[in-house]
Amino acid sequence: MRTDTPQTIRLEDYRPPAYLIDTIELNVRLAPDSTRVEAQLSIRPNPALEGNHGPLSLDGESLKLEGLELNSLPLANDAYNLDEKGLTLLDPPREPFVLRTYVTIDPSANTQLMGLYRSNGIYTTQCEAEGFRRITYFLDRPDVLSVFTTRIEARKSDAPILLSNGNPGEAGDIEGTDRHFAVWHDPHPKPSYLFALVGGDLSLVREDFSTRSGRPVDLRVYVEKGNEEQADFAMDALKRSMVWDEDAFGREYDLDVFSIVAVSHFNMGAMENKGLNVFNDKYVLAAPATATDADYEGVEAVIAHEYFHNWTGNRITCRDWFQLCLKEGLTVFRDQEFTSDTRSRPVKRIQDVRLLRTHQFSEDSGPLAHPVRPQSYREINNFYTATVYEKGAEVIRMLKTLIGPETFAAGMDLYFQRHDGDAATIEEFIACFAQTSGRDMSRFMRWYNQAGTPEVTVATFHDPDAATYTIELTQTCPPTPGQPSKEPQTIPVLFALIGPDGNEIDAQRTDASNLSGEPGLIELSDTRQTLTFAGVRQRPVPSLLRNFSAPVKLKDDLSEEDRLFLLRHDADPFNRWQAAQTMMLDWLLGAQRNAREDQEMGAPDSIVAAIMVAAGDTTFDPAYRAELLKPPSFPDVAQGIVNGVDPDAIHAAMERMRQTFSATQGAVLDEIRASAEIDAPYSPDAEQAGLRALKNAALALLASDSSDAALDKAQAQFDSADNMTDRLAALGVLVQRGGNRGSQALKRFYDDFQRYPLVIDKWFMLQATVPDADTLDAVRALMESPAFSMRNPNRVRALIGSFAAANPVAFNRLDGESYGFVAERVLELNALNPQVAARLLGAFRSWKTLEPARREKARAALEKIAASDGLSRDVNDIVTRSLA
Ligand code: TRP
Ligand code: ZN
Repeated sequence: MRTDTPQTIRLEDYRPPAYLIDTIELNVRLAPDSTRVEAQLSIRPNPALEGNHGPLSLDGESLKLEGLELNSLPLANDAYNLDEKGLTLLDPPREPFVLRTYVTIDPSANTQLMGLYRSNGIYTTQCEAEGFRRITYFLDRPDVLSVFTTRIEARKSDAPILLSNGNPGEAGDIEGTDRHFAVWHDPHPKPSYLFALVGGDLSLVREDFSTRSGRPVDLRVYVEKGNEEQADFAMDALKRSMVWDEDAFGREYDLDVFSIVAVSHFNMGAMENKGLNVFNDKYVLAAPATATDADYEGVEAVIAHEYFHNWTGNRITCRDWFQLCLKEGLTVFRDQEFTSDTRSRPVKRIQDVRLLRTHQFSEDSGPLAHPVRPQSYREINNFYTATVYEKGAEVIRMLKTLIGPETFAAGMDLYFQRHDGDAATIEEFIACFAQTSGRDMSRFMRWYNQAGTPEVTVATFHDPDAATYTIELTQTCPPTPGQPSKEPQTIPVLFALIGPDGNEIDAQRTDASNLSGEPGLIELSDTRQTLTFAGVRQRPVPSLLRNFSAPVKLKDDLSEEDRLFLLRHDADPFNRWQAAQTMMLDWLLGAQRNAREDQEMGAPDSIVAAIMVAAGDTTFDPAYRAELLKPPSFPDVAQGIVNGVDPDAIHAAMERMRQTFSATQGAVLDEIRASAEIDAPYSPDAEQAGLRALKNAALALLASDSSDAALDKAQAQFDSADNMTDRLAALGVLVQRGGNRGSQALKRFYDDFQRYPLVIDKWFMLQATVPDADTLDAVRALMESPAFSMRNPNRVRALIGSFAAANPVAFNRLDGESYGFVAERVLELNALNPQVAARLLGAFRSWKTLEPARREKARAALEKIAASDGLSRDVNDIVTRSLA
């Protein structure tokens, strides 16, 4: 592979395509190392453009061109150009014409898993973002929409099942041969990134569905042979998703068939190809013995996400890749709402915010920060990020908060109606809500264009004599790459004032900035705003940023006493949880500083006691109580540190906090554990899952003292569990704290589950995340395990990815050895699968905030990568931006 000097693509350079491709007829003859792809394209100059349309450059990569015909005549050699990026017709006809190309490709040699590849003998495709060009020559850009007809042919023994997008057409045996064929036709024009084709020996689970308006749909879930008992939950989740989208957004399905195919080699979670979603099997397969509650929830959420793309992504797609958040942010918002309606809304909100803070906030505060809608890129695959997805969803949520649910719903309806069949932009999307709300959205648009996490600082003042209360809010946003200074954004701050009796007070606002008129909503649009309330005789405690109404960092002036008060009285479940988190975080920040300075850390006894009272409150749902028992994450703490992160000090502080729970609240924790025991057969439903989450959160804290008593409980749970959730939670405790007991349990676990690669991923992950410098040696040894393969992204993520991204203690070893190890793996993967390599390299995203000794070692590892030959565009882009 040669080193690309990646060229920068800019949003401002967008031009509509000079040619359109109305239809494409594909004829694909599958064979393991030489698949023949014949494509017939009906092309015409784009009538929206005037004058000479110039040459036609079709994208094409790693294709072997075997033949080329224009309007049925072979094309002369001097009529076209061929290079490693594609095929250019130098002087195409001015009238509509038909181009026929014949290429061969090698699916078995495709380790990048982009284009057509084989996974455990199954042919499958992945075309987003730019994989279709590895199948045939095409205008591989999202604003070229074509009607696809796909004929697939294969040996019956090699691929008894043949699938593509749309509705099934003619199919049958090819007489006198051992081959057969199937034709699929997709009536909905679509961009090439939504194309899919599957061929293989698959098992099928099938059910009938009828849409609200009466369209019968044949629902199919295809899995590898032997996995069919693990597909029922996915089917159920699909049906529930379809009903929900009809209820919540009025969206129905639009084809006769909807298929999901699970494959074991997959770069990401899943892909929304029209009518033929292809999934990482991790997000399809689920059975009580092998999948945890979190796995079930993941399956349900990803099935919903991909299904929801049928409207937000497929019926309305993106004009160009800068608009990626148009489909991803919106679809994440929709899947979050689905899960909130299906399970516990407050718990889902807490989990989403935790994820946002852990991944997106750290991305946004480092060298890889970029706006929700980037203005330039060198490799689009590197922009499927927490910022585009998760912050993109937060932007939609803020929009809904600002304009209210009815106006938001009307804007969505308008969007679907106005842009159905379009390749749209963020401006067009936002214009729908500007219209339904009658508001100027220009400041709100800054959420799409400015990177960085805004900080909102709050100062409060109570004047008992005048009986007034004022809240002053200030917003700032730190500089990010290419954006040294920022403009103020529209930040919705949901709030309430809570009086000394614990009830919300209904105070009259007397300031002029109450623009929206919504009670309980501050619309912060300027750099600084002051609110004044009259008739407030006693100092209230403000509950600010309720339900985490904006993706910002809030710096308020509340005392610990105020937070204890909110933990007891706040009616907003998110902020009640947040009060506990903030107290823990403040303590952890102080303690890690003390640890670094060799001072006594102290112990957070009073905070822990207050949290235990809340967590013991049986009027709350068990899943919510479990969230109360989970301390802030490592990145949460790291983000609060300004002068050099020392991972060992953070770890020491986190351990002290957990041990304070076990030392001072052991009996209560054990009581909670016992009270959450379930006396019924396993079910993955939210209610049971909540009880298990509570029980296992209590167990994890209880065992933080590594006492025999606690380890005995973990051992008993491991030995007797009838489901993977309890078994894995117990195993985690034994592995982290149990020494030899951990090794024994790991051995048994491997023996029991070695037939299930997705379970073995958990086995890899638990070992890779032990917070100990020696874990590096364990990971090196595990790479030799027969169950490991650098060619399977799930294995790589489980062992190497979790070591690099979820084990800050071991990854940040003081001697820098782990940085060197991960850098070597990045280079190894660079040649095999650049996308997975680039993602692994993202583990270095916060290197600049490390204390100097580690920072220099991390820099050296990055520089070594940067200096290597043959870097893919993906890795080159990340390493260059990381070092900039
Ligand atoms: N569009 C997919 C989703 O979010 C994700 C995706 C983008 C993807 N590129 C991919 C999946 C490459 C697999 C491989 O639903
Ligand atoms: Zn998506």
